[in-house]
Amino acid sequence: MKTHLVTGGAGFIGSNFILYMLSKYKNIKIINVDKLTYAGNLENLNNIKDDPRYIFIQVDICDKEKMECIFKNHSIDYIVNFAAESHVDRSISDPQIFAEVNVLGTLNLLELAKKYWQTNEDEYIDEVKFIQVSTDEVYGTLGETGYFTETTPLDPHSPYSSSKASADLFVKAYFDTYNFPMNITRCSNNYGPFQFPEKLIPLMINNILNHKSLPVYGDGMQVRDWLYVEDHCKAIDMVIDKGVIGEIYNIGGHNEKYNIQIIKDIIYYIKQNVDDKVGEHLITHVRDRKGHDRRYGIDPSKIKNDLGWWPETPFEEGIKRTIKWYLENKEWMKNVTNGEYKNYYQKMYEEK
Ligand code: NAD
Ligand code: DAU
Repeated sequence: MKTHLVTGGAGFIGSNFILYMLSKYKNIKIINVDKLTYAGNLENLNNIKDDPRYIFIQVDICDKEKMECIFKNHSIDYIVNFAAESHVDRSISDPQIFAEVNVLGTLNLLELAKKYWQTNEDEYIDEVKFIQVSTDEVYGTLGETGYFTETTPLDPHSPYSSSKASADLFVKAYFDTYNFPMNITRCSNNYGPFQFPEKLIPLMINNILNHKSLPVYGDGMQVRDWLYVEDHCKAIDMVIDKGVIGEIYNIGGHNEKYNIQIIKDIIYYIKQNVDDKVGEHLITHVRDRKGHDRRYGIDPSKIKNDLGWWPETPFEEGIKRTIKWYLENKEWMKNVTNGEYKNYYQKMYEEK
């Protein structure tokens, strides 16, 4: 039985990943280590909380002593590092925590894994691996044409993407210096169930349902390459299983959309199916995000050709599934939009 240490498993992608892995594999153990920040929500994992294959431990990945206890007490085969501060807007107003968690937290995990996995200077126990879940944002921005490949130079612009790029470089340094067994994955924008409503798609769904204005940054003509979260989880599973040690894999579905188009599509769906009073009058153009990257677009040829992954969920299908999920989980939305979110959101709105 393989043991996966999943960090940040109570967040959006981490919780989807845990649910995916436990439903796919019978013989698996998952240790979910999460600090439970505003973005972490154990409700996401209600269905498996009593599953004997699953353990939750509330710990900050930066806490060396507590993290070491976990390595001492469990024999870990794979580490999948999702834990991070993940929101670009927050990184613009408060960069410090992004360096602490995304860079130093990752470094802490690398050090512990090296210590517990290394048999001598150059060798590691068999079949262990560290997966760093990174992002396409480390490559910066594209013009009208072209795509990010794994060899595109790193050119991050926001404090968030800079912290992720720094973490990637530490992971790479551990491979280059210590032969540390790792892969880095760089995925495009995810959407799907359990995404915190500070991010574009759930924010727009929530605001439309509540007849609130829809803040479009600048002209709304920025392009993101959207991937249904389950397809990202499948890709990570394949990288754990078949990824060549030391390699980086880009993950994305050639599904580029203008922000404004996504917003209009969601309005249209909700107007047709839920509430005919909503409409494009809710759209409000607000000040642009500072340093806003114009376009992201992933070239996924490597993971397709080498590992056989492909994005299975067409956007038209994934977005409907996502809107339906939020409609059926209004209680979840109510719970996560209380407390800290209210203050943050109010402040963001005033700034916008
Ligand atoms: P999220 O913000 O929804 O979840 C992050 C999780 O990490 C939360 O559960 C939070 O409590 C936890 N966490 C934060 N700080 C921690 C700490 N110090 N110790 C332990 N846990 C901590 O993020 P997400 O959207 O699920 O993203 C997960 C990872 O995937 C991130 O590393 C992000 O950079 C990367 N990524 C995200 C996307 C996307 O579109 N959302 C795309 C590509 C890559
Ligand atoms: O590309 C992968 C990245 O995608 C991940 O690494 C990040 O963790 C994740 O947050 C996401 O970053 P983005 O900045 O692309 O996502 P966000 O949902 O914040 O914004 C998507 C686009 O929509 C972006 O161009 C900004 C715009 N936007 C966003 C919000 C929240 C708006 O126009 N209005 C908004 O209110």
